[in-house]
Amino acid sequence: MSTGNLHGVVDLDVAGATISRHLYGHFAEHLGRCIYEGFWVGEDSPIQNTAGVRDDVVQALKEISIPNLRWPGGCFADEYHWMNGVGPREERPSMVNTHWGDVVEDNSFGTHEFMQLCELLGAEPYVSGNVGSGTVAEMSDWVEYLTRSGDAPMSRLRREHGRTEPWKVPFWGIGNESWGCGGNMTAEQYTQLASQFSTYARNHDGNELYRIAAGPNRDDYHWTETLMKSISTLGGPVEERHHTRWQALSFHYYTHASDDWQHKGSATEFDAEEYHRTILNAWRIDEIVRGHARVMDAYDPEATIGLVCDEWGTWWDVEPGTNPGFLFQQNTLRDALVAGLHFDVFHANARRLVMANIAQTVNVLQAMVLTDGAKMVLTPTYHVFAMNAGHQDATSHPVQVVSSDARYRGEVGEYATLTTSVSSREGSALVSLTNLDAEGGGTVRLDLRGRDWQVATAKILAAPSLQAHNTVQDPSAVAPVAFDGARREGDTLVVDLPPHSFATVELTLA
Ligand code: AHR
Repeated sequence: MSTGNLHGVVDLDVAGATISRHLYGHFAEHLGRCIYEGFWVGEDSPIQNTAGVRDDVVQALKEISIPNLRWPGGCFADEYHWMNGVGPREERPSMVNTHWGDVVEDNSFGTHEFMQLCELLGAEPYVSGNVGSGTVAEMSDWVEYLTRSGDAPMSRLRREHGRTEPWKVPFWGIGNESWGCGGNMTAEQYTQLASQFSTYARNHDGNELYRIAAGPNRDDYHWTETLMKSISTLGGPVEERHHTRWQALSFHYYTHASDDWQHKGSATEFDAEEYHRTILNAWRIDEIVRGHARVMDAYDPEATIGLVCDEWGTWWDVEPGTNPGFLFQQNTLRDALVAGLHFDVFHANARRLVMANIAQTVNVLQAMVLTDGAKMVLTPTYHVFAMNAGHQDATSHPVQVVSSDARYRGEVGEYATLTTSVSSREGSALVSLTNLDAEGGGTVRLDLRGRDWQVATAKILAAPSLQAHNTVQDPSAVAPVAFDGARREGDTLVVDLPPHSFATVELTLA
């Protein structure tokens, strides 16, 4: 069995960018069984719930310190009319969810239910407003309804619906995928609308919105540049740029095992070639984040405008026998490795990248949690979020790679098989390590300089095969265990990783 080697240097006394906790953000759309069944079961359900929200899912997400939740879409956001989702449930009009399964949505989960869910989770709400089929006034009213106190028309309506105090809503999306399901617009058309809709998404009563413009698909750098060019205050003093109409732009990037949209590959039954294609595609996140950041740097060198990746993750064919419009897929060790890789890229780009939201949290695409009636299974991806939770709001310490021979080379292409990132806070540091090699082990040597340190604890997520996954019958087939593969040699942290594994090492800093 071959072993790849990576040798890097890390200065623990030199602070890189802060890794925003919002890089560990989430996304819940009215899609398949994400909201209904996944989060919301209703007050009368035999499944244990608080005000209709299932307790087991909330507890699991609190344990990974879920920082924010994006809602109601996705594509659904641009056909969602929020007024239909407030007031007495039995009086709410229904609608057709044309994007996802063509099912009738009864609007029983609406604004109040979402805000309650965020309160239960301790997560900050990220609301996606409707640009594709909504109006400026409708979005403006929604902001007022949520965030304004006093005797304004929308605050009065909110009170009539049972909520006296306004909520705090920090994050506001100005549409979703406006280049596609959100209206099939050009970058130029959308840029004008983003300015108009953002203008009327007001700050009320000290609630300061962080408005996120719907940015490009994947590597559409023209879209990013068109948005950036429209920021008229650039060139002026940095302080004044906070008055730009929107504060960030988002892009989406999904990982597939093939380029054929009709055959994205099975979540659990894949061969070595599909695995290599998956990892090659996953690594593209690095090039794409850096690409958008470079475009933004040209217009905003001080990085006052944030880059957000508010949809990312693996997207496979749906599980056999499930509704093709519900996007329900299993989640294997391969998914966990894709997540480990993404987080290292996110940490390395934390200066510009301020938020990321995995798609999606429950029962859809690369989920944390899969539910089956009253039962719930934590996925391998969940465990990566759990093991990496210590990076949230920590200070990054870039890994300078001195040398590495850890590469896969094959017919489908070439990629690095070892990746790592380091952060610290107060008296401890967290090192994450991913070995993407399907068959070989890997050794990472990090010369840790600038502070004295000791290995405190280490954990590993591994399994006999890449296809291993958790089910109701076997919920811990892929779960973290204590790891003895990390040691100190002089000032070097040496970590021996088995094939296809993800590990974290906690250090005590003197
Ligand atoms: O996450 C599923 C869908 O993927 C979202 O609704 C859409 O924004 C994207 O195309």
